[in-house]
Amino acid sequence: MSIVIENLSYIYMKGSPFEKKALDKVNLNIDKGEFVGIIGHTGSGKSTLVQHLNGLLKPTSGSVTVNNLNVSNRNLKELRRQVGIVFQYPEHQLFEETVYKDIAFGLQKMGLSKDEIDNSIYRAINTVGLSEDILLKSPFELSGGQKRRVAIAGVIVMDPDILVLDEPAAGLDPRGRNEIYDYMKKHHFETGVTVILVSHSMDDIARLVNRVIVMDNGKIDMDGSIKDVFKNIDHLESLGLSAPQVSYLMRKLKKIIPQIDDEIYTLKDAKNEIIKFIRKD
Ligand SMILES: Nc1ncnc2c1ncn2[C@@H]1O[C@H](COP(=O)(O)OP(=O)(O)O)[C@@H](O)[C@H]1O
Ligand SMILES: [Mg+2]
Repeated sequence: MSIVIENLSYIYMKGSPFEKKALDKVNLNIDKGEFVGIIGHTGSGKSTLVQHLNGLLKPTSGSVTVNNLNVSNRNLKELRRQVGIVFQYPEHQLFEETVYKDIAFGLQKMGLSKDEIDNSIYRAINTVGLSEDILLKSPFELSGGQKRRVAIAGVIVMDPDILVLDEPAAGLDPRGRNEIYDYMKKHHFETGVTVILVSHSMDDIARLVNRVIVMDNGKIDMDGSIKDVFKNIDHLESLGLSAPQVSYLMRKLKKIIPQIDDEIYTLKDAKNEIIKFIRKD
């Protein structure tokens, strides 16, 4: 088990009139190499949860252990090397004159040679699908999607074995979104890193992850495979969520073709299922 969360509660501004319980006795284990999605409506506690994974937030009560390191410990250096978090709107953290310097920022404190730094940077930009000529540009000259990918490269370059992406595609157009997700999927496939993806898009979650965690009001409401979670459409809707769009189409088709499988959540699976019936006629 690479992540073990036991009875985790977190209260913002504890003891003040504004205190807010954001996590309420959360229990969660995540294995090395999993690709996990976290969904839940705004304010359900997703960001608060993931910020515990590198010790940015410390449990109010309960415990969080990552690769046998307790996040409540004082020394977080090793933990931060192992857990890379890409925050919501990470481009706000790009501040150097060049993309190169931005990505190199974390590496420079590690005592590496110039060649080692360069190689790591080339590998990182390649992982997010950017070409080398972007390195000498100013981050401010880039498109929204490129900026986002530079920020992701700045985290990946540290070679974390747990990668947390908190709404990495928020505000991007569909093309920018797909590019980010496709490269992350490839990175997961090629390296076997653990990836935890927080996203609003049920369609993206359904095509990317193996396991979905649903959060509601600081608690884990559901935790299971894509099918286990998304077949509960009515329940998801009661939480202010939805199922992937294509599953609504499949439910409608089932009214016309009763034999069709409507527990389908990706376009690819829908296409394969629909083709079966077209061929029969
Ligand atoms: N810095 C903060 N100070 C006070 N309350 C906060 C802070 N950050 C988040 N919250 C509150 O904690 C709850 C969970 O927030 P958050 O973890 O950001 O949810 P999500 O990421 O699912 O939208 C919300 O009610 C939110 O208003
Ligand atoms: Mg959030």
